[in-house]
Amino acid sequence: MRRAKISIIGAGNVGATTAHWCASAELGDIVLLDIPATEGMPAGKALDLFQASPIMGFDSRLTGTTNWADTAGSDVVVVTAGIARKPGMSRDDLLSTNAKIVGDVAAQIRESSPQAVVIVVSNPLDAMVQRTFQVTGFPPSRVIGQAGILDTARYCAFLAMELGVSVEDISAMLLGGHGDTMVPIPSCTSVGGIPVTQLLASDRLDAIVTRARNGGAEIVSLLKTGSAYYAPAAATTQMVEAVVKDKKRLVPCAAYCDKEYGVGGYFVGVPVVLGSGGVEKIIELKLLPDERAALDKSIAAVKELVGVMDRLTGHKPA
Ligand code: NAI
Ligand code: 2OP
Repeated sequence: MRRAKISIIGAGNVGATTAHWCASAELGDIVLLDIPATEGMPAGKALDLFQASPIMGFDSRLTGTTNWADTAGSDVVVVTAGIARKPGMSRDDLLSTNAKIVGDVAAQIRESSPQAVVIVVSNPLDAMVQRTFQVTGFPPSRVIGQAGILDTARYCAFLAMELGVSVEDISAMLLGGHGDTMVPIPSCTSVGGIPVTQLLASDRLDAIVTRARNGGAEIVSLLKTGSAYYAPAAATTQMVEAVVKDKKRLVPCAAYCDKEYGVGGYFVGVPVVLGSGGVEKIIELKLLPDERAALDKSIAAVKELVGVMDRLTGHKPA
């Protein structure tokens, strides 16, 4: 059986770390691509990672390149190309630069890997996944944004710290856009099967939700030179694995919602079933009134951001 071909666009922190974990998990053969100005950087990182394989015992071929032809026929393409936040910047401050970069990348993917499932990571995520969909023209099921798995992981990590329990015992779901308007669903959060509301006072839960919402900014303020990449790459690797192994994982991802949740044709973080076809199903939860109101606020923020992007790029919604 042919191994999956996984191309990772952008060989920076998130891209290279995703390559590392995808290779370690033997998810397929990996092509790491960056812009020509980076010269040998992607090739150097790929070779270095490949030389780790006899020690770590994984069978994945890794290639680094600046030539799109090397990505041809990929099964999965991960988009991490673009600039990252620095202290004082919001994700939305990246919009104009990254809309251009991600638009150019999407045009290349359309030509070189027309059957690929595309996983977008670049920020501001909710707009960049929409831009990828606009430019590739791929079916919406094959264009997915990574945010919800990361945001949920941060929330679970903070809950585990607060409760003094294993992260493995926490199960949770967050909806909405990536960032300040993400929507935790306490009714879908449990610890060893026990509803979290039985274990934590509401003010402590609120504090954890706030910390999860600011989880990206907290790392930026500590690193000072860029943004988080270990947890983002782990989240992205989980999505790649779900696709290449057709795992049917039920996870939160930015998926194209039309009638679903009454969104009307935008990418919003929702629970999906992820398999070889990409988003195979969107799960519509019955939300409590305050959860629904928070989701509506988040959807409005996504629409506003995409509106700004469409004015910048000249895209005319159909
Ligand atoms: P980085 O600066 O380390 O790497 C970005 C790479 O993209 C650079 O190597 C750059 O040369 C490359 N690049 C730029 N234009 C390109 C093009 N046209 N084609 C191919 N490569 C190109 O940044 P990092 O930390 O890896 O972050 C990448 C992006 O991911 C940022 O936009 C960041 O905000 C976003 N991000 C999103 C997360 C999420 O949860 N959705 C989490 C973490 C980061
Ligand atoms: C994060 O949440 C910057 O979106 C990135 O860490």
